[in-house]
Amino acid sequence: MSVRVNPSILSADFVNMEQELGRIAGADLVHVDVMDNHFVPNLTFGPQMVERIQAVSPIPLDVHLMIDDPDRWAPGYAELGAYSVTFHAEAAKDAVALARRLREIGARAGIALKPATPVDSYLELLEEFDQVLVMTVEPGFGGQSFMHGVMPKLEILRDTVRRRGLDVWLQVDGGVTEETIGIAAEAGANTFVAGSSVYNSPDPAAQIEALRTAASSHHH
Ligand code: DX5
Ligand code: ZN
Repeated sequence: MSVRVNPSILSADFVNMEQELGRIAGADLVHVDVMDNHFVPNLTFGPQMVERIQAVSPIPLDVHLMIDDPDRWAPGYAELGAYSVTFHAEAAKDAVALARRLREIGARAGIALKPATPVDSYLELLEEFDQVLVMTVEPGFGGQSFMHGVMPKLEILRDTVRRRGLDVWLQVDGGVTEETIGIAAEAGANTFVAGSSVYNSPDPAAQIEALRTAASSHHH
């Protein structure tokens, strides 16, 4: 079974974005963190910037929306060509309707859960999503420590996906390093976001491969 490593450009140099995208050419997808300073206490960029990233990126975009009112704003990211659009369960008014809309436009639909958000009520809705993002830090900032306590949510998701024969990607985001990636893989994750671990490395391309190798050796 294959694993995906999606570097987060949150830790890239924002004024040299095109060049920064070139440093992660071996990645599966590029993880794009949109923050609105309301849903999280930090601000990054919006659709205009993401549209330019989409235009110059050699790899498809995995957009992570940490914003209020995704019901209104998420479809725009699918329309500009993002490969996947993930919105937060805590912010969406109608997660199922929004996911259906994203799929209709042609994007993969993802739902994200903050560390304290239970997964239970989403298990019966898994068919509606292409990926579930289990946050392993409080969303808002790069460089925080991996929260081991959320692993049971991944295990439940993995077991449910297997039992029902679904093809839903299970993604972790936050504090993913060569040390922690195996723990997440062991718990069932198959898609790994890594920001500081990739961009703070002197050789981001080699770091992506190191993460992929570490994840693969723990993924069953
Ligand atoms: C945090 C973002 C992450 C962030 C991860 O709110 O959603 O994607 O870039 O950064 P690291 O890998 O440094 O924890
Ligand atoms: Zn993210």
